[in-house]
Amino acid sequence: MDIVDYILISEEEIQQKVRELGEEISRDYEGKTISLICILKGGLMFLCDLAKHIRPPVTYDFMSVSSYGDATESSGIVRITKDLEESIEGKHVIIVEDIIDTGLTLSYLLKNLHSRNPASLRICTLLNKPSNRKVDIPVDYVGFEVPNEFLVGYGLDFRQMYRNIPYVFVLNPKYYDSE
Ligand code: IMP
Ligand code: MG
Repeated sequence: MDIVDYILISEEEIQQKVRELGEEISRDYEGKTISLICILKGGLMFLCDLAKHIRPPVTYDFMSVSSYGDATESSGIVRITKDLEESIEGKHVIIVEDIIDTGLTLSYLLKNLHSRNPASLRICTLLNKPSNRKVDIPVDYVGFEVPNEFLVGYGLDFRQMYRNIPYVFVLNPKYYDSE
């Protein structure tokens, strides 16, 4: 595909890492039921693959957020566009995200979800872009540390497209200007 500059993380590497994360989570939550909260839409692919490798019982719920301000720079002001269907009070919650960039979205979500009194609250992200962090976020499970590039695939979109691609790639620079 012309849109691909180069593949950063292959499908095999992702699947291997997802298995490892599932194993780690299974060990940590033995004997408990896990409430997985997927942040739409980017976290969807990751949630589906990750859940296959978790042994304790899991439930799913979904949340959708959008940040105010322009589309490319996170403003930190987050609006919930789709809220959870179930209460998380007393539950063991893991937030499933595609990528943490500035950390502003998750910082807001952490505060919001903490106030609903879960028994525990952790974050599992496939990708972590620490170089662009604006607020400190305690991340419990990380798949890959990634460089400060615009990444697409495996949940991540370019203009809402290519979320279905099974690997993570760096966008061809000739598309940057129109990003
Ligand atoms: P944060 O508030 O800056 O941490 O925003 C995180 C959100 O920005 C992610 O959930 C993604 O939806 C989006 N995002 C951050 N970096 C990228 C990227 O490289 N490609 C596509 N989307 C990204
Ligand atoms: Mg996202």
